[in-house]
Amino acid sequence: MYPGSFDPPTNGHLDLMERGAKIFEELVVAILRNSEKSPMFSVAERLEMLRALTGDLKNVRIDTFDGLMVEYAKSLGATCILRGIRAISDYEYELQMALMNRKLEPTLETVFMMPADKYSYVSSRLVREVAQAGGPVKGLVPAIVEQKLREKLDPAYALRDARMIEVLGKRDLDRKEKKRKKKP
Ligand SMILES: Nc1ncnc2c1ncn2[C@@H]1O[C@H](COP(=O)(O)OP(=O)(O)OP(=O)(O)O)[C@@H](O)[C@H]1O
Ligand SMILES: [Mg+2]
Repeated sequence: MYPGSFDPPTNGHLDLMERGAKIFEELVVAILRNSEKSPMFSVAERLEMLRALTGDLKNVRIDTFDGLMVEYAKSLGATCILRGIRAISDYEYELQMALMNRKLEPTLETVFMMPADKYSYVSSRLVREVAQAGGPVKGLVPAIVEQKLREKLDPAYALRDARMIEVLGKRDLDRKEKKRKKKP
């Protein structure tokens, strides 16, 4: 399994998934729910983006999880955790986590892979920051993620979304009210 927050998925993540799909029989990309209080993209949005991005990788599927990663990995019957190492800075944290996970579940191995060097500086956080400041993220994220970022950050789109939620919310309330009235 390849766990992460993928908020949003980047070309670095995708590079790792492609490499992982080549060496593992099956790869479950697992989105950590509740990793951050206020993520940029909802879990449902990340799920949808990742599914679209990995549609042609037949042995890759996307799922979400919460709580202890080793427990979720066990429930899948996974034998390996895939993680990416971009630079020395990733190493210390990843080593700690791998050793803690080994303590929690000694049969689970962590496998590290390196991305193509052109993605070695790409992180979701940097992508979010650049996009929020109005900078270009072309080449750092897949085209559909670029589009989603545009929609998320463009005030015109945001306004449309707010209206949609208003309309949908009202429709939901109307429906509930009707149901309530129907009850004897
Ligand atoms: N560009 C990349 N190349 C290789 N591995 C990566 C890359 N980006 C993320 N990873 C790895 O993918 C896993 C999941 O990462 P995560 O979802 O935290 O992404 P992230 O880019 O680090 O996001 P954030 O900046 O929000 O922490 C981690 O093992 C991370 O090291
Ligand atoms: Mg990270």
